[in-house]
Amino acid sequence: MEIEKIIDIAKKRGFIFQSAEIYGGISGFFDYGPLGTVMKNKIENFWREFFIKSDINVFEISSRTIVPEAVWQASGHLKDFVDPITQCNSCKSMFRADSLIEEQSGMFVEGMKADELTGLIKEKKIKCPKCKGSLSDVKIFNLMLKTNVGPVEGTVAYLRPETAQGIFTNFKNILNSTRAKLPFGVAQNGISYRNEISPRQWIIRLREFNQIEIEFFFNPKKAEYTKFSEIGKKKLRIVTREEQKKGGNAVEMTAAEAVKREIVPNQWMVYFMVKEMEWYQQLGIPLDALRHRHMLPEETPHYSKGNFDMEIKFDFGWKEVVGNAYRTDFDLQTHMKHSGKDLAVVEDGEKVVPHVIEPSFGFDRTFYAILLHCFVEDKKRGWDWFRFPAKISPYVVAVYPLVSKDGVDEKAKEVFNGLKCCFDVFYDEAGSIGKRYARADEIGTNYCVTVDYQALKDDTVTIRDRNSAKQVRIGIKKLADIIWKLAREEIEFEKAGKMIK
Ligand code: GAP
Repeated sequence: MEIEKIIDIAKKRGFIFQSAEIYGGISGFFDYGPLGTVMKNKIENFWREFFIKSDINVFEISSRTIVPEAVWQASGHLKDFVDPITQCNSCKSMFRADSLIEEQSGMFVEGMKADELTGLIKEKKIKCPKCKGSLSDVKIFNLMLKTNVGPVEGTVAYLRPETAQGIFTNFKNILNSTRAKLPFGVAQNGISYRNEISPRQWIIRLREFNQIEIEFFFNPKKAEYTKFSEIGKKKLRIVTREEQKKGGNAVEMTAAEAVKREIVPNQWMVYFMVKEMEWYQQLGIPLDALRHRHMLPEETPHYSKGNFDMEIKFDFGWKEVVGNAYRTDFDLQTHMKHSGKDLAVVEDGEKVVPHVIEPSFGFDRTFYAILLHCFVEDKKRGWDWFRFPAKISPYVVAVYPLVSKDGVDEKAKEVFNGLKCCFDVFYDEAGSIGKRYARADEIGTNYCVTVDYQALKDDTVTIRDRNSAKQVRIGIKKLADIIWKLAREEIEFEKAGKMIK
C-alpha cells in the first residue's frame, strides 16, 4: 500500500519517528525527525506568510500549554470535552462508543447520550472489533490531561486541548498592547493535548499534536470584508447539508454565491475558506481532494452560527483537517462572566463584545496530506519520490561532484558553499550519480547540481530537474539566481540553460 511505503520512507529518511521508540513508545505520540522538522518549520512559515502577513490585520501569540482549571470551567471543556467510551468485557480494550456503533451499524449517532448509546450497543449487537466479546455500558470520559502544578498536591491544571483559549484569555492584553481596532485576528501555532481513546491512522489521531488557530474578531454589525469583490469570485467546493442527505458530493460555487444563498454565514467566514483552498493547493494538494463540509445541525454547537470542516481526501477517505467555526461572542462572554473582567471593545463610543470566526488547522493531518498527495510511485524511474513544492521541501538543491578526485570535488564544494547562503542544500559524493539522484528524489529535493570535468574548463555545471528528470547546463555565476527563479516558478526549466539531450 502507498501509505505503508510513505510511513516507511518517513522513518528511514527522518521525517517522522514513533516517540520513545526504543522503549516501545505510547500510541498517539510521534516525533518530527531532522527532515520533518525542516519541512515543518517551512510549512509553518508559509502559513504565516499566507495568513498573517496578508491584507488583514493578524497578530501572532504564543501562550502556555499548562492552563489553570478555572479557564476550562469557563470554556465548558471540563463538562463538555468528553467522549463516550465502552470496554470489552473479555479483552478489556477501550473504544469510542459512538465510532464503534457507526462503524458496525452504519448509523449516525453524533450527539447521543450515554444511555442511548448503551441501548444501541445492545439492540444492534455491537461487539468488540478485536475479540468479538460483549461490551460494557457506555461511560463519559473527559479528554483533557490533568496535572498538578507546584509541590505536594499543588494546584490542578490541564494540558490545553486547543490553543484557542490562550487567545481568549489574553484578549484584553492583546487589545491594550497593540491598540488594534476591529476587525483583527490573533493566531497561535502550538501543541495541544487530547487523551484520545483510540489514537490511530499514524499522525491523524494523536494525543499530542500541533494546531494552528486564528481567532478573527469583528463587530457583528460590520461583518463586511473591504475586498470582498475579489474573494467573492473565487470558487469553493462545498458539501452542503442538502447534498449530505443525497450522498455527499461537493457542489462548486463562488464565495459570493455561498454567502448570498446563506450557506456560509458571512464574508469573513468565506474569506478564510477561500484562503484555505488556495493554501492547500500551494502545498501540493489537488483541488479535487479538497472540500468544505457544512456540518449538520446535530454536529454544530448551540452557540455557533455555522461550522464548516475543510476536508482532504486521504487514502482511507475524507477527513477534517481544518475546523471553521463562527463562534459568535460565546467565548468572550463566558470569560467575562467567569473572570468578572470586561472584555468588550469600545467602537464609535459603543461597547461591543466582538464576534469570532475561528479557522483551526491540524498541522499533523496537513503534513500527512502533503506526504500522501506529493508521493509519486514511479516504475519508470525505478524509485518513488516526493513532488514537494520548493517552498516546503527539506532541500531545494543537492550538489554532487561527478567524481571525487582531480579537483572536481573541490570545485563542487565551492559550488555548494556558494549556494548555502540562499538555499537548503546538501552535498553528496557517495555512490553512482544515479543512486544519488534516487536518494535526492526520495526526499523531494527539487534540483541536483552536478559538477563534472567540464566545470574545471569553463565554469559550467548541470542542473537536473526532479519533476521531469531533464537537465540543463549553465554558468556557475548564474546558478544561484537561476535556482532562485526556478524555485519561485518564475522561469520554466527548459529555459533555465542549455538543454542536455
Ligand atoms: N479550537 C477548535 C478546535 O480545537 P477541533 O476541530 O477540535 O477544533 C481543530 O480541532 C483541528 O485540530 C482538527 O481539524 C484537526 O485537524 C486537528 N485535531 C484535532 N484533534 C486531533 C488529534 N487528536 N490528532 C491530530 N489532530 C487533531
